[in-house]
Amino acid sequence: MSSGFRKQPAGFATKAIHVGQDPEQWKSMCVIPPICLSTTYKQDGPGEHRGFEYSRSGNPTRQVLEKCLASLDNGKYGLTFSSGLGASTAVLSMLSAGDHVVLGDDIYGGTNRLIRQVITRFGIESTFADPTNLDEFKAAIKPNTKLVWVETPTNPMIKVADIQALSDIIHKSGDIIFAVDNTFLTSYFQRPLELGADLVCYSLTKYMNGHTDVVMGGVTMNSEDLYDRLKFLQNAVGIVPSPFDCYQVNRSLKTLALRMEQHFKNSVAVAKFLEAHPFVEKVLHPALPSHPHHQIALKQTYGYSGVFSFYIKGNLEHSKAFLKNLKMFALAESLGGYESLAELPSVMTHASVPAEDRKKLGISDSLVRLSVGIEDVDDLIADLSNALKMAQNIKN
Ligand SMILES: Cc1ncc(COP(=O)(O)O)c(C=O)c1O
Repeated sequence: MSSGFRKQPAGFATKAIHVGQDPEQWKSMCVIPPICLSTTYKQDGPGEHRGFEYSRSGNPTRQVLEKCLASLDNGKYGLTFSSGLGASTAVLSMLSAGDHVVLGDDIYGGTNRLIRQVITRFGIESTFADPTNLDEFKAAIKPNTKLVWVETPTNPMIKVADIQALSDIIHKSGDIIFAVDNTFLTSYFQRPLELGADLVCYSLTKYMNGHTDVVMGGVTMNSEDLYDRLKFLQNAVGIVPSPFDCYQVNRSLKTLALRMEQHFKNSVAVAKFLEAHPFVEKVLHPALPSHPHHQIALKQTYGYSGVFSFYIKGNLEHSKAFLKNLKMFALAESLGGYESLAELPSVMTHASVPAEDRKKLGISDSLVRLSVGIEDVDDLIADLSNALKMAQNIKN
């Protein structure tokens, strides 16, 4: 399915299945990489090891996954961390007191909290700006800016930022690292390194793993210098994932292309249904021509995932009634699994964003975020239709 989006070049699924997985790397020639639980590795002589010393600094199962991840972004290097926020912590740990970071104004609430309540305590300044307003974003960059962190599409307002245009502005402004959080689209639908980003960051917890059973983060990049610095921090700060989790995510990547195609189809069908529904105020889905950044989405991405938001008509009571009456969509935080989820950002994922910022961004009590899974789409639409009817029956 492409519907006007960029055409996916051949080879993605092959890389997901084969890169890093070569049986020749194991004495046993096992086709499926093993889960290496050993925390330490026998050395041939003091300081003479065969690539692994201690599992915090390196682990064979983790290495398999990191190689595969890098290849999916057409990057040279990949690193994994114990969570998506762990990956963000590693990236932010490259900064020093007196440095400044510019962040997208509509980012995951946990990243917002990490900046406002943790990182700024270490003397690092921050500014939040709208990444879809290039003038505003440019104005936020200062002489001491060392890092820019953007999510696109943004969360939960699903604004689409032009990665290439941002990269031009950022890289002309100085020696600044440009990081793009690609959690919502995955390497399958968006490859920011090709559009000028220096780092691509993930909550692998979401679509990349896709089975809602692992918490993990990842970063891919082309720069050897950034890789060395982040690999040092992965070990020095100790934010590493477990070998079992690495095995799970590596396995999940094998079906990423298939899963994402189905998420795409289902989410477009659900978005069209909602857009035509009389009790829906507005749908925020980049594949719909009504989306203000539809053209940018078509230009820079290969399709769209299952996560998007919409405004229900009415107030908090109506959105609560809608969410409580869903039977197939689970009322839960997170996104990107094969199962469908729904949530209310203002009181769930984005409750930690200051109220005045939520108001400015449009995160009202009638904004609902969906993560459309890969169930039969008619069943999903029937569920939404029923819950909307129940919400509509609520009297003001
Ligand atoms: C866009 C985005 N980035 C980062 C994170 C943090 O990832 P994790 O929950 O794996 O720490 C999340 C979590 O929801 C997210 O949605």
